[in-house]
Amino acid sequence: MPKNLLGFLLLLSIIPALITLFPLILIIEIILWVLAGLFFLLFLFILYVYFVFAKNDNKLQNLLWDIVLEKLSWKGNGKVIDIGTGAGAIAIKLAKRFPNSEVWGVDNWGKGWNYSKNLCEKNASIEGVSDNAIFQKASASNLPFKDNEFDAIVSNFVYHEVGDVKEKTDAIEESLRILKKDGKFALQDLFLHEKKFGKFKNLTSKFKEWGVREINSFNPLVEIKMNWILRLMFRNSLILYGKK
Ligand SMILES: C[S@@+](CC[C@H](N)C(=O)[O-])C[C@H]1O[C@@H](n2cnc3c(N)ncnc32)[C@H](O)[C@@H]1O
Repeated sequence: MPKNLLGFLLLLSIIPALITLFPLILIIEIILWVLAGLFFLLFLFILYVYFVFAKNDNKLQNLLWDIVLEKLSWKGNGKVIDIGTGAGAIAIKLAKRFPNSEVWGVDNWGKGWNYSKNLCEKNASIEGVSDNAIFQKASASNLPFKDNEFDAIVSNFVYHEVGDVKEKTDAIEESLRILKKDGKFALQDLFLHEKKFGKFKNLTSKFKEWGVREINSFNPLVEIKMNWILRLMFRNSLILYGKK
């Protein structure tokens, strides 16, 4: 969960309610109560999502990570990278599954999240994979790797957040640049969100322009049972996977 978001939303719902304690004309008072109510509803929504993801043993989160890895369908020979690795969860899963592979996790570890390189390294050490999991600070917009360097790439809910690009799709192109011919990819994000990624048909055509020969999609909403709140949250999500 983005750091401080919950506190910020709670504050946004309390402040308008507090202002109504002062003498105001009725219409302003109504507007303030509506604002307070809307921010409080948003607070409750984010709080619920927080409990589903951060608490509850990360059940849904784990399931989604595992599905991304299943869709990657990689045999574990060579180098793999998790772009926007966060706390390193997917990279560590890969390192545990494929002890002979070289696993990289990169992230810009910006202010919005409580993640860091140190946290990833600590998590890797706890899971006993410090030897084959390497973490490096880098932006998904400009990866410090050569063209065609990796045998596989994964990424989970990162591209929609990348800020230092003209188009969000520029970051996807950058990821595919470092993937070898015949290399596998599995990328999960809000790919059905047209404002962020454009029309889905155009997006898949772009993948082809970037050298992808095989592309498939998996919709978590269709395959995983979710209540309406989570369905709302995942309505634009898709895993795109295939081969370059
Ligand atoms: C929703 S979190 C997902 C983290 C991780 N992939 C996971 O599944 O747990 C989004 C991640 O994207 C990272 N991120 C945002 N902008 C980035 C950028 N320009 N380059 C690399 N990572 C970025 C954030 O730091 C955060 O770790």
